[in-house]
Order: sequence, then C-alpha cells, then structure tokens
Amino acid sequence: MKIIKAKDYEDMSRKAANIISAQVILKPDCVLGLATGSTPIGAYKQLAAWYEKGDVDFAEVSTYNLDEYRGLSHDDPQSYHYFMRENFFDHINIDLNNTHVPDGSNPDAAAACSEYDKIVAEAGYPDLQLLGIGNNGHIGFNEPDDHFSKGTHCVNLTESTIQANSRLFDSIDDVPRQAYTMGTQTIMYARMILVVANGEAKAQAVHDMCYGPVTPKCPASILQLHTNCVVVADEAALSLCE
Ligand code: PGA
Repeated sequence: MKIIKAKDYEDMSRKAANIISAQVILKPDCVLGLATGSTPIGAYKQLAAWYEKGDVDFAEVSTYNLDEYRGLSHDDPQSYHYFMRENFFDHINIDLNNTHVPDGSNPDAAAACSEYDKIVAEAGYPDLQLLGIGNNGHIGFNEPDDHFSKGTHCVNLTESTIQANSRLFDSIDDVPRQAYTMGTQTIMYARMILVVANGEAKAQAVHDMCYGPVTPKCPASILQLHTNCVVVADEAALSLCE
C-alpha cells in the first residue's frame, strides 16, 4: 500500500482529485468505481472545478458506484443515485447513461445484485476504484464479518453504520436497514484502488486497514493484498499509524 499523508481535508481532497484526474487524462474512456459518503465530496468538487476550467473531460468516462440503500427510489434525496447527481454528475459533462449505481428500488435483491455484477463485469471492472472507509473498517457496505464477501449482495447494516449515517437523515428510524453493495472480491478486481480518509474517528480503522491482520473483521484490511492501492489520508486519520 502506498500511504500519502495530507495536511487536512482540503489537501486530501485535492490530492485524491489529482489522482482521479490523472486516470481520466491517461485513459479518457476509463471506468471509474465511485463512492458516496462525506469523505469524497471535496474530491468531487475539485474535479468539477477542474472540469469547469477545461482541465479534465468526462465525456467518455463510465462509472460504477459501490452501493445503494435497499428500498429507496432513484429520486429519493437520501439515495446514492441522488447523492451522485447532486455532488458530482450534475456538475461535469458525464453522460448519465454511462453512470451506474445498484438499483435499490428493485425489491428483488437477488435480481438487482446479479444484474449489477453482470454490468460491472461487462465493463471490465474499474480502472480506478475510489473508496471511503467506515469507522468500523467497512468498504462499500461490506461490514465486519467472519468471511470476505464476493459479488454484489444485500447486507444488513450494522448498528454502528446506521448510527454513523443517521446524521444525514431526519431521524435514525429513517435510515434504511439494508443495502446492496459491491462485494469485496469485486472491489479487489479494480486495477487501482484509491482510499480517502480524514478525521480522528477514522484513525483506528485506517491503522487496522494498513497495519492490522488481514481479516474480514476489518474488511478494508484485504486491501493490503492489492498490488496497486493508494491511501490518501489526513494527519488526524493517520494519527495511530506513526
Ligand atoms: P464517510 O463514510 O465518508 O461519510 O465517513 C465512509 C464510508 O462509510 O465508507
């Protein structure tokens, strides 16, 4: 793993955006694996600003997001479909037909997940997969477990994830209890992985991801086995790694 220390959130966001933009410049029709959550928002903003300046062009890019809440329609403001448009896609020249998020509105979990696996495989898997990391070490919605997951599947969210995500909902009762997520094996098929993390709350998870045993108890620890994984984290998130 290559660990890049950033001063703060802004610096982390700019460094991550630089890596993503280099990927798009090197391969204009690249496949990007994208993530939701608070952490990548700054990188998306920076990329949108560079697009506005004419420095990066998303016309030929296609994207595959990690996960979606089960039971939310694409237009639900809490859905990850909506999040991606609001925080990124509406601000760049990507063709929305080339953007993909698991279909949380399909109540048939098996069908929704196998359809997503099929399209990600047909796309040849991401050239670059952007990841946040949960306080509990999850990647996508692959929660701590006794085994690593493989393809896209339906998960029951852990209490700690429901708690962490409740800040974005009116009440904790509104947080969906299930999600469809790309599996750990699929994430590992990406040719490059870029993890972003900031803040002290992530320090333990970042330490365990980089230096702990490779164990499904910390799903992100599998990234130690990836041949091209870059972690961009701020000083607070790296505070247990010195
Ligand atoms: P966050 O979420 O960026 O909102 O902290 C990260 C994650 O849960 O993957």
